[in-house]
Amino acid sequence: MQPFDLTVRPRRLRATPILRSMVRETALDAHDLIDPLFVIPGQGRERKPIGAMPGVFQMTVDALRAEAEQIASLGLPAVLLFGLPESKDEQASGAWADDGIVQRAVRVLKADNPDLLVFTDVCLCEYMSHGHCGIVRGDKVLNDPTLDLLARTAVSHAAAGADVVAPSDMMDGRVAALRHALDGEGFADTPILSYAAKYASAMYGPFREAADSAPQFGDRRSYQMDPANRREALKEVAQDIAEGADMVMVKPALAFLDIIREVRALTQLPLAAYNVSGEYAMVKAAAAQGWLDERAAALEILTGIKRAGADIILTYHAKDAARWLREPSPAR
Ligand code: PBG
Ligand code: ZN
Repeated sequence: MQPFDLTVRPRRLRATPILRSMVRETALDAHDLIDPLFVIPGQGRERKPIGAMPGVFQMTVDALRAEAEQIASLGLPAVLLFGLPESKDEQASGAWADDGIVQRAVRVLKADNPDLLVFTDVCLCEYMSHGHCGIVRGDKVLNDPTLDLLARTAVSHAAAGADVVAPSDMMDGRVAALRHALDGEGFADTPILSYAAKYASAMYGPFREAADSAPQFGDRRSYQMDPANRREALKEVAQDIAEGADMVMVKPALAFLDIIREVRALTQLPLAAYNVSGEYAMVKAAAAQGWLDERAAALEILTGIKRAGADIILTYHAKDAARWLREPSPAR
């Protein structure tokens, strides 16, 4: 007999897979996931691999059609589009052109598969010769003049048939500007997913290769948030909600699970979290060395993001996760 009390034994409920599954508190589902995609100009089904993101490709519109079909057949509800334009300038013309790369891709994807939700990333960095998310004068990124271009971009995405527009620029007042412009152009029913708490993170490194959007001078710290700040995230989220956001996002996810949890408590709106490129690259790199079990690591990470409070997760592991979740679970 032990000299101490062992009437409480949490291990009783961990004894078998079926018991564990019955008391599991968080269930990850393919319906929670959005697959981010990169569209490039060009003919045919060309797919260009991205060095730091194995399994992710820049795709022509034709290649994207096949990809979207596969995504839908796996039970994933949505994609998020990023575009790489033919050429860049200082007004980001390619971002808001009616026949821009994202606008063309949206039209084709929606015609092929009306039931697949197409989210579009609304930003200017991929389309600006200097790579910043707004209009630049000298070494400054100007806020208010940028709003007009962002609004035009969102309207052109909605006109092409985008289901949801997602501003990722972090200019002040962009949600209000987008809402006003969308309503004025007949798109009152197009929802806005705001990248509300978006941090200036080292974890975007691989993405900037994928989207060819690295800033040519300086960094994004005058518009994206300081990773050290928590209260400021709540302020940003409250502001975007006041401006009319329909859904809000925290980005990145892994170093910001506390922020996800707090935003969950702050709002009744659907909450998204972005499992960003660097987070994906870390898992891929370790798995390639044989240092991590990719499936187990990725599912643990995605489940953790959901447990923290995210309803929706943007992840480059979306297709893999959808497949893994379909298989009979080995050791869950
Ligand atoms: C562009 C944008 C970025 C990401 C999404 N939209 C990069 C950045 O802000 O520098 C990052 C996505 C990722 O790393 O997966 N505004
Ligand atoms: Zn940007």
